[in-house]
Amino acid sequence: MPATLALDIYGTLIDPLAVKTALVAHVGDEAGAFAETWRSKQLEYSFRRGLMGAYRNFTQVTRAALDFACEAHGASIEDNARITLMNHYRTLDAFPDVAPALTALQQKGVALHAFSNGVADDITALLEHAGLDDRVSSIVSADEVQTFKPDPRFYAHFLQRTGATAATTWLVSSNPFDVIGAAACGWNTVWVKRDPNAVFDPWEYVPEAIISNLMELPSLLALS
Ligand code: LAC
Repeated sequence: MPATLALDIYGTLIDPLAVKTALVAHVGDEAGAFAETWRSKQLEYSFRRGLMGAYRNFTQVTRAALDFACEAHGASIEDNARITLMNHYRTLDAFPDVAPALTALQQKGVALHAFSNGVADDITALLEHAGLDDRVSSIVSADEVQTFKPDPRFYAHFLQRTGATAATTWLVSSNPFDVIGAAACGWNTVWVKRDPNAVFDPWEYVPEAIISNLMELPSLLALS
């Protein structure tokens, strides 16, 4: 059976920390640290909301995390500018290896699906901005199940939506919590180690493969 790839978006195809370029005008040298706070709070809020069963969509979670980061960094960014930053989050660039890798995989007949906590509208905007919208067969969003990765219900939903089986599905993600979430559901997993200093959580789950560039995927999946 051919492989099905579930492609994580934020951190894997699209760089959420690239938002720092838009933050410089507001917080200067602190832009990098601010972007890190924003991203880590966004994830923390998604985990906490998942545990609490208190769902708000990822756009709302991201906006709350932005408000937290403003407070934490003592940045008085006006509401209009926060809205502009949120819009910027919909036009973040893809990592440079993404377009050639997805083209190569698509040409080899691999089923490619976006699989993200993000709402479909935001993911569509990101993929269109990056010129990648015709590379994926579908966008499977956590919003459809009103919970977030690594809730196993979302991984089960992906299989149901795509008609794939765990045994032939590969999660491709730079986020260790996502890799572990998929591995716990019996999927094959690839950890995209975009940051050479990134550390994988020392749990009982390990990825089948670790890559630093998506161009490694075709040979990894024995497609060439
Ligand atoms: C996503 C987040 C987890 O795209 O990065 O699902």
